[in-house]
Amino acid sequence: MRLSVIGCGYVGLVTGACLAAAGHEVICTDIDADRIAQLQAGRVPIFERHLDQILAAARKAGRISYTADAGEAIRSGDAIFICVGTPPKESGEADLSAIDNVARQIAEEARQPKLVIEKSTVPARTGLELQRALAAYSRNSKLTFRVASNPEFLREGTAVEDFFHPDRIVVGVEDDSSAAALREIYRPILERSFHCPLHNGTCPPGRDAAFLVTTINSAELIKHASNSFLALKISYANVIADLCEKIGADVKEVTYAMGLDPRIGGQFLNAGLGFGGFCFPKDLQAFIHLAASVGVDFDILRATERVNKQRIGRFLEKVHKALWVVRGKQVAVLGLAFKANTDDIRFAPALEVVRCLLEEGANVRASDPEAMARTKMLYPKVTYHEDPYEALRGADAALVCTEWDLFRNLDWERAKGLMARRLIIDGRNLYSPKQMRGLGFEYYSFGRQ
Ligand code: UDX
Repeated sequence: MRLSVIGCGYVGLVTGACLAAAGHEVICTDIDADRIAQLQAGRVPIFERHLDQILAAARKAGRISYTADAGEAIRSGDAIFICVGTPPKESGEADLSAIDNVARQIAEEARQPKLVIEKSTVPARTGLELQRALAAYSRNSKLTFRVASNPEFLREGTAVEDFFHPDRIVVGVEDDSSAAALREIYRPILERSFHCPLHNGTCPPGRDAAFLVTTINSAELIKHASNSFLALKISYANVIADLCEKIGADVKEVTYAMGLDPRIGGQFLNAGLGFGGFCFPKDLQAFIHLAASVGVDFDILRATERVNKQRIGRFLEKVHKALWVVRGKQVAVLGLAFKANTDDIRFAPALEVVRCLLEEGANVRASDPEAMARTKMLYPKVTYHEDPYEALRGADAALVCTEWDLFRNLDWERAKGLMARRLIIDGRNLYSPKQMRGLGFEYYSFGRQ
């Protein structure tokens, strides 16, 4: 099928690249002409594992192209994926102006009927507004637009794998033909009948993805409800960690045992510095706003947000308690990205930690495998070290802020010889307190003695 993708950010590029790999002909557009020029020159403007490989293969096969001319992209596709940003406004409400702009462009530029698919995360009832906007902006009353919602559930760092091996594909539609078109788009992935570039064509057997056809409102709600629930799980684990510290229990033991109950599940129960990134904080706020706008009390989500915001303060309390005076100290920060396997620093807890440390007069020495270039632009006073052992050299404390495997597997025997003081404050509970103390470290983490 010929598909158009509007918006070449994380979601748009992964969607475009993976649908091209699945055999479709994809044309991508973006209002950022520089970004399009980069893509046309074969450069990938974001870091996402496997994305460069998938894009290069799609390009070689002639199945993906880029244009700065939105009209060309719109006219070319039978179905159009909207993948533009929906950032939060001051109030927390999602800003849908980019979606509105795209609706106007589609209505003005289309010459044939189109299936318009929302991929961007949007509040419930956006699809209905989109439908109205397309009709209102169109100058050709004979032209019909069908709208569908097809939320993404992609995690940064594993987005390509998530796309090729989804748990569920949710399509919110108003008519059978839209559902059929979406099933056709995803057929190669559902049937695993395409050459998966990640596994050289032979994907390991896994669970079959559920293909769920719902109403548009339900599909939109599924996305916000899923992300907010995951955020709630993390905040729940963080409160359990606080309780463990007061009572004298071990949060890892508690959450591990909880997670063995399949009704609870073991994922997203890691206590620590809390969640960041561009999705959870924003989606949570938008969902709270949506509930309030229709008079529904969703106070547990406000509590989820509040608990998460307190995590950085809780971490800094530990830093102060251990270091006493922060001013003038050499502090090694291990990890800047909001989570492992990404260069994304948006709403990263680590950055807030760095900001507070600098404000207090600490000398910050940071290391992160992917996120240093972006952080340098915000915090030029920090010294950056490719090699984490160099960041630790002469440090009065090591602060672990991101759960990279590189840090999980550090040789602390070696590190302790480099540090001025053997002190670790672990914001991600990566190590065993017993082992670290056995190595001679003062070791503090969340929810453990
Ligand atoms: C999330 C959703 O998982 C994905 O389905 C959605 O489409 C986009 O939002 P992402 O933002 O990439 O994906 O990050 P995710 O892997 O979910 O982690 C979010 C944050 O939670 C990270 O900051 C991570 O460090 C933190 N986290 C995660 C915890 O603090 N504890 C946990 O147990 C799990």
